[in-house]
Amino acid sequence: MTNISSFCLVFFTLLTILNPICALKSCEFPAIFNFGDSNSDTGGFVASFPPLNSPYGETYFQMPAGRFSDGRLIIDFVAKSLNLSFLSAYLDSLGTNFTVGANFATASSTITLPARIIPANNGFSPFFFLVQYNQFVQLKARSQLIRKQGGVFARLMPKEEYFQKALYTFDIGQNDLGAGFFGNMSVEEVNASVPNIVNTFLTNVKSIYNLGARSFWIHNTGPIGCLGYVLTNFPSAEKDTVGCAKSYNEVAQYFNYELKETVLQLRKVFPSAAFTYVDVYSVKYSLFSEPKKHGFELPLVACCGYGGLYNYGSAGCGATITVNGTQITVGSCDNPSVRVVWDGIHYTEAANKFVFEQISTGAFSDPPIPLKMACHRTVGQYIGINL
Ligand SMILES: *[C@@H]1O[C@H](CO)[C@@H](O)[C@H](O)[C@H]1NC(C)=O
Ligand SMILES: *[C@@H]1O[C@H](CO)[C@@H](O)[C@H](O)[C@H]1NC(C)=O
Ligand SMILES: *[C@@H]1O[C@H](CO)[C@@H](O)[C@H](O)[C@H]1NC(C)=O
Ligand SMILES: *[C@@H]1O[C@H](CO)[C@@H](O)[C@H](O)[C@H]1NC(C)=O
Ligand SMILES: *[C@@H]1O[C@H](CO)[C@@H](O)[C@H](O)[C@H]1NC(C)=O
Repeated sequence: MTNISSFCLVFFTLLTILNPICALKSCEFPAIFNFGDSNSDTGGFVASFPPLNSPYGETYFQMPAGRFSDGRLIIDFVAKSLNLSFLSAYLDSLGTNFTVGANFATASSTITLPARIIPANNGFSPFFFLVQYNQFVQLKARSQLIRKQGGVFARLMPKEEYFQKALYTFDIGQNDLGAGFFGNMSVEEVNASVPNIVNTFLTNVKSIYNLGARSFWIHNTGPIGCLGYVLTNFPSAEKDTVGCAKSYNEVAQYFNYELKETVLQLRKVFPSAAFTYVDVYSVKYSLFSEPKKHGFELPLVACCGYGGLYNYGSAGCGATITVNGTQITVGSCDNPSVRVVWDGIHYTEAANKFVFEQISTGAFSDPPIPLKMACHRTVGQYIGINL
């Protein structure tokens, strides 16, 4: 908001006629189609794999709600701000409603074909990006046949025109880096695999465009080196000034550099679509570098977990373990609303809300347009010339 509104203010006083940005109307996104991993999974993983235990979900839903957090995710705040209800997971066959879109994200999904899939040791989600795309193809075609049946069926599926008008959101890539780090590849080897990962991302996004998508909101990947699962498993990694694993974050930064180049390329290849690159990394990193400023504390330490420096690794959040002969359930910290990391891998609702509030203004986007205007495709070039 800051960027746009100050820009508008200055520009308005100078020359109202030549200012298309300020004249832009909010987009009408009737639906969201989301692709990703646990950062935006609203129930896909638990539809197929063992459910999450309490205290997952306790802050907002008062029960586990298919989300890897104590409450809502960034995608939930995105949906809310567009006045849409929570996105149903495509894989969830129980009580789902796809009228306002669908969520194809599942926890531990990768962009590229995973070498091993869950439940194998060190396995990743079988629902990697290409599979999520195939599911989208199914939904797009079959939803219209179902709508034709009328009645309740028509009220469970998106209208045909929604596929073109919808916002398409993406938050995927963290597990491709994780699969490398935990699969015995050196940091340099994982880094060298980045162009291939990003290329595969590009291929899938092009396919989604070819099915009629026109508004794309693409999150970059977060600072993986600040999360307990990396810090605990690679204890000898060199730390930066705030205590994050430096080279692991550098790989994430390289991924983001390549991703941004790819988004610029998509914008050139498909001038009729709007592609917004969103720098989630910087916002998440600010929670680790300046926690107090933003109302947070102990950013590297998991709120729900057990063991070690980062309260991660000895037993998972929600697990039942025996300590000194007594059974305990690994529960939440006292005040998740001031904590950044929920379970050593995922963020708290409070952190997700903070990230949403920062990114929705457009201040961390390229082009710097707010979420509500992410259907406009000429703005980017215009701002590019004038700022
Ligand atoms: C939001 O949705 C409600 C119904 O769920 C509707 O009454 C309201 O007008 C909507 N607001 C906007 C800004 O679209
Ligand atoms: C599905 O959700 C939409 C939007 O929230 C709602 O209008 C519709 O009635 C729901 N369908 C059913 C069958 O309840
Ligand atoms: C990594 O290497 C160790 C030791 O050689 C081996 O036990 C483990 O299975 C390997 N992990 C993967 C994911 O390849
Ligand atoms: C990753 O690769 C890029 C491009 O070759 C290079 O600039 C960067 O320094 C590398 N980073 C790491 C951590 O190896
Ligand atoms: C278990 O016992 C050890 C040694 O007496 C003690 O330091 C630790 O706090 C105990 N743990 C719990 C969870 O009570």
